[in-house]
Amino acid sequence: MDNFEWLHSYSARFGLHQVDFENPNRPRTPKRSAVYYAEVIRNNGIPLPKEDEFLYGEFPKNFSWSVATTAYQIKGAWRADGKGLSIWDQFAHTPLKISNDENVDVVCDSYHKLKKDLASLRALQVSHYHFSISWPRVLPDGTTKHVNEAGLNYYERLIDVLLASNIKPQVTIYHWDLPQALQNVGGWENETIVQRFKEYAALLFQRLGDKVKFWLTLNEPYVIANLGYGYGTSAPGIFARPGKAPYIVGHNLIKAHAEVWHLHNETYHPKQGRLISITINSDWAEPRDPDKQEDIDAVRRYVQFYGGWFAYPIFKNGYYNEVMKTRIRERSLAQGLSTSQLPEFTEGEKQRIKGTFDFFGFNHYTTILRKSNARGKLFVLLSLIKFLTDRSWLDSGSFWLKVTPFGFRKILRWIKEEYDNPSIYITENGISERGELGLNDAWRIHYYKSYINEALKDYTAWSLMDNFEWATGFAEKFGLYYINYTDPNLPRIPRESSKYYSSIILCNGFPDPAYEPHLCLQPQPEGN
Ligand code: GAL
Repeated sequence: MDNFEWLHSYSARFGLHQVDFENPNRPRTPKRSAVYYAEVIRNNGIPLPKEDEFLYGEFPKNFSWSVATTAYQIKGAWRADGKGLSIWDQFAHTPLKISNDENVDVVCDSYHKLKKDLASLRALQVSHYHFSISWPRVLPDGTTKHVNEAGLNYYERLIDVLLASNIKPQVTIYHWDLPQALQNVGGWENETIVQRFKEYAALLFQRLGDKVKFWLTLNEPYVIANLGYGYGTSAPGIFARPGKAPYIVGHNLIKAHAEVWHLHNETYHPKQGRLISITINSDWAEPRDPDKQEDIDAVRRYVQFYGGWFAYPIFKNGYYNEVMKTRIRERSLAQGLSTSQLPEFTEGEKQRIKGTFDFFGFNHYTTILRKSNARGKLFVLLSLIKFLTDRSWLDSGSFWLKVTPFGFRKILRWIKEEYDNPSIYITENGISERGELGLNDAWRIHYYKSYINEALKDYTAWSLMDNFEWATGFAEKFGLYYINYTDPNLPRIPRESSKYYSSIILCNGFPDPAYEPHLCLQPQPEGN
């Protein structure tokens, strides 16, 4: 129990039981650690629950191993070869100028370093590469009035070299770099964007569709709508916007996605071997107090507002989930409004939205703790509330990202149960660091080892190389490859984790050490 600690008297407490020194009865209250220690004693050790044990074994044959980047994050602001302005070009963190040459792109300069990127992909031995297309690079003012052939040609070349190396492209049509010209007329808040997006997608299907058989319409609509990534008035905001704007944006995103899904289906008959869907993202949540019903309810709401906002209409019924509908209506009425701020879809729209997926694309990084929110401000929002986490969870270079592999397994199970066992492709997953910590990135190896071990189906690592990390610029690094930004050649240097990820790919999982030797674990010849 807490007691007298020599030089520090009563300030340092070592007790499994708390003692109230103010109370003459000196009551002893068991701390959580006392309950845990009792469990250890009862078990005579620390047996891991079955599901937390490391699992040796192989993924199914033909499992897709991928790694991701996005257009804006590795190419950046320069308007080389006719690229139009994007809303991110004016954002504070963006400028990273490595050359005065107007034609040299910024950030990782992937626009000119195609061969180098290909070499990294080949060394990893991935079967797929997930990247995005820059809307303003292809359509400088966002409309099909003018097609930038040079920009489109870059993607054609990229796809060709990938296919020649037997790496299948996974292409995201929109990953947040909205043409500024469209933002000037209201961006995602203006319903006309649905048609604009459809025309942009039609062009891509027409020009790249014979070669690309795996599409994602939108990346993380939750982040676009709620955090304002991609529809801020001047610069992308990183905080939730009050009022109904996020819901309007969300509404338009869902309609835009559904239209493009139908367009793809109409363009390609029969759609044999061709897939198109959307990337949903969500953190997992655990109750702050697992014995408290209010905290358990808060967790349920959190996941419905986060993963469920966009997944529910598309993967289930064509409309928003009940948890959201009820909460937003209650809050809107409490604010004196006559109707809910959450719009509704018409019957026709519902039919058009429901079932517009060929698989479940999913980005996942972390888990948080939730407790019941007495003031009911749940939705003002996940970005603004303090992130409650468990102090035993390992940190990363991003304040919101804690290492919580168990949450990955739990949210995959949630998707499976909520959405009737869809086939899932993990379209992003990874960990960052800050500063120059060297190439021996043990934390990334540990992260991938434990998260991949939890994975059920498909898997894509974020990211192939260090890049521009949206609101936080270049400080947070997610790459399997280190980029030396001070060297004008921007060399891509493999971190230790790239070799580790490659060995998982080669083994197609985690071979049991009890049955050594495993050829796939032996060092690969250089350049392989
Ligand atoms: C995702 C996003 C990526 C990347 C990653 C790491 O939300 O889609 O572009 O930035 O987070 O924060």
